[in-house]
Amino acid sequence: MNPDLDKLHPYPFEKLARLKAQCHPPETLEPIALSIGEPRHRAPQSVLDTLAHQLQGLEQYPATKGNVELRETIAQWLERRFHLPNIDAERQVLPVNGTREALFAFAQACVDRSLQSHGTPLVLSPNPFYQIYEGAALLAGADISFYALRADNHYQPDFDAIDAATWRRCQLIYICTPGNPTGAVIPRDALRGLIEKAQQYDFVIASDECYSEIYDQNPPVGLLEVAAEMGLDDYRRCVVFHSLSKRSNLPGLRSGFVAGDAEILSAFLRYRTYHGCAMSGPVQAASITAWSDEQHVELNRAAYRQKFDAVLDILQPVLDVKRPEAGFYLWPKLPVDDEHFARELFAQQHVTVLPGQYLARELDGFNPGAQHARLALVAELENCTEAAQRIRNCIETL
Ligand SMILES: Cc1ncc(COP(=O)(O)O)c(C=O)c1O
Repeated sequence: MNPDLDKLHPYPFEKLARLKAQCHPPETLEPIALSIGEPRHRAPQSVLDTLAHQLQGLEQYPATKGNVELRETIAQWLERRFHLPNIDAERQVLPVNGTREALFAFAQACVDRSLQSHGTPLVLSPNPFYQIYEGAALLAGADISFYALRADNHYQPDFDAIDAATWRRCQLIYICTPGNPTGAVIPRDALRGLIEKAQQYDFVIASDECYSEIYDQNPPVGLLEVAAEMGLDDYRRCVVFHSLSKRSNLPGLRSGFVAGDAEILSAFLRYRTYHGCAMSGPVQAASITAWSDEQHVELNRAAYRQKFDAVLDILQPVLDVKRPEAGFYLWPKLPVDDEHFARELFAQQHVTVLPGQYLARELDGFNPGAQHARLALVAELENCTEAAQRIRNCIETL
């Protein structure tokens, strides 16, 4: 077997299951899970209807590139949402079966193992991070190096702190904006600086923007938007990843897209043709319906806003926690060790949260996820407020 498989770390939820197995929560309290980032709001009925009416599309093999109508719908959505002058639906957009598979596959297509002039190829990842970035890099034969998202820097990456030798080795950098788990949006200036570095040192930026539509007030800026503002209308070295999972509450549809640099996407399409990951016809049709409608997305945002209002009212008096700029997670700083907190909360209150250290790697004795917990406000309002009250009760005993 591929020996690189042994480099893969256990998924955070495996660690969480082990932690919970040590506890005996009170059976009198209903369990509430704030641990999994799976949207639980209803999917738009129009999308489900389209899917149901298009099932005969299963009788054909779909093309890996997707159909023209889907790519054009996505191109128009990108232009509207990010004020882009023009997206070429033929060359700058590819449908993918959710961003997870695309983020993974992208490193396999992107990393050049033969390019060793500056050492083993390097992939950069945020820390804490979505664990797929790490597995993707390791199975692509690259080394992975992390840049920390620290509380004392408002969970923003400091790209200027990365040295020239690291940039020279870097072939691919993952960024996640809005961030999971931090909810921080990387601002324009930092994205501009990163694009300049990508042009200087010749690496690719993979911007995971799958939370971009769950925001409080201001739509988060995107990588292609900044590239266009810089006059890079070929989006050179820039690729973005978007998804219907969070935007439209369709995590089971497995539908997203990548967009950006046409040369890179052409190579990625070639990879995908062999990988065999075409999106089925009915899913493409349903995706067109979803990307064409913003009303359900606005309602979705309003529902999250209401939950953040209610939960923060309960938690802020006892916990160092801020409203995120975007996404559906809270990322509080804890007064105690995060594993201890998660264990106590489960044992006392039957509420599950994810210890922050499970989402990050320790480097030089520092784990930027430690002393934090990730709380996904995906359940219905009443469940979220009930969970918040129980968290408050638990904190008051610590
Ligand atoms: C940061 C981040 N990227 C990507 C994904 C994958 O989403 P999907 O494959 O459903 O598009 C997730 C899912 O939780 C995520 O949190």
